[in-house]
Amino acid sequence: MENLLPKAKQGNFHLLKLAKKEQLTKNTFSMEFEVPESLKNNYQFEAGQYVTLKYPSKGEIYYNDFSMTSAPFEGKIALGIKINTEESSTKDLYNDFEIGGFLEVSEPKGRFTLVSKPHEFRTIVGFAGGIGITPIISHFKNILHNEPRTRLFLFYGNKTRDGVPFNEELDELVSQHKERLDIHYFYSREKVGNAFLEGRLDEKKVVLIINQLMMIDDTDEESTLWDAVDEVLICGKGEMIKSIANACFNNGIPKKNIHFELFEEYNEDIYPQEKEFPLIEDIEVGFKLLGNEYKTTLKNNKMRILQELLVQGFPVPYSCKSGICGSCECILEEGEVELLENEYLTENEEKSGKILACMSVILSKKIKVNFDLV
Ligand code: FES
Repeated sequence: MENLLPKAKQGNFHLLKLAKKEQLTKNTFSMEFEVPESLKNNYQFEAGQYVTLKYPSKGEIYYNDFSMTSAPFEGKIALGIKINTEESSTKDLYNDFEIGGFLEVSEPKGRFTLVSKPHEFRTIVGFAGGIGITPIISHFKNILHNEPRTRLFLFYGNKTRDGVPFNEELDELVSQHKERLDIHYFYSREKVGNAFLEGRLDEKKVVLIINQLMMIDDTDEESTLWDAVDEVLICGKGEMIKSIANACFNNGIPKKNIHFELFEEYNEDIYPQEKEFPLIEDIEVGFKLLGNEYKTTLKNNKMRILQELLVQGFPVPYSCKSGICGSCECILEEGEVELLENEYLTENEEKSGKILACMSVILSKKIKVNFDLV
């Protein structure tokens, strides 16, 4: 385990000039980087992607991922960053780097992306918690810019009214696109005189949102706004994502249309596993990852491969944890697994031995997988 390559080292880094830095709330700030002409191609990105910043703090080098808040058409790399505690490395990032200075920034990556459909009339709903708003803003700006008929709804949870990152930018977007963008704010630690807007964004709240805000569809008397939802985007902490994704699924949205980005390490499954499997214990697992070969033993097959390896601290790539994004794609070289759900691999890829680690339950005493597909 001591040779683990940090997840964040995946990707190419370049020195970029810090062009803007701004405090947003008591514990959040934004940073904007200038991309020189010679690196423009390296920094092309899709809405919903992120970069890794490499920076020193208290004698150590940190690699942390931050989602872009800018949309691709804006031609800049803008990020939203939270300082979790007084000890957070991001506090030094804020204090130590001044405008005009240079920072190591990875090229964009990530699979929290959506296919653009400029000619369609879509209904897209976003749920964000705190700084989890960052990739959602990028998506919303992108969709408003590229899809002239698509309408958007955002349900945004924060603790208090004065702790809402990017509230000015969101207000600005609403004023530019009143007829297509609707934003509702929720507060978990402040009374705002409306019980509906108080409390966390969770499963119960989603049901209330569906029943109170997503009923009347002016464009179609026969169905509700919720019936018209094409895609759901969720970003925030693991528990929030799990709760909202399940609420959306239980209320009729197919899993393949529920997209999410986890903003913390989260080793639990997002959706409950419905099928039971025979218990297998002491499983030998060998795997290739980023050019290294690892061996480990799993206590049993109660969790899926990805979750088992994450619990043991291996930097296995993932994003959706529900068989949709393909981040955890690998080849099964030995042993047997059952792939519970798959919205990503083609039939031929499955036949050729590819599996998704987040959705694979181990069914043999020994398995070997390879995450280095290229
Ligand atoms: S993490 Fe998205 S398919 Fe496995």
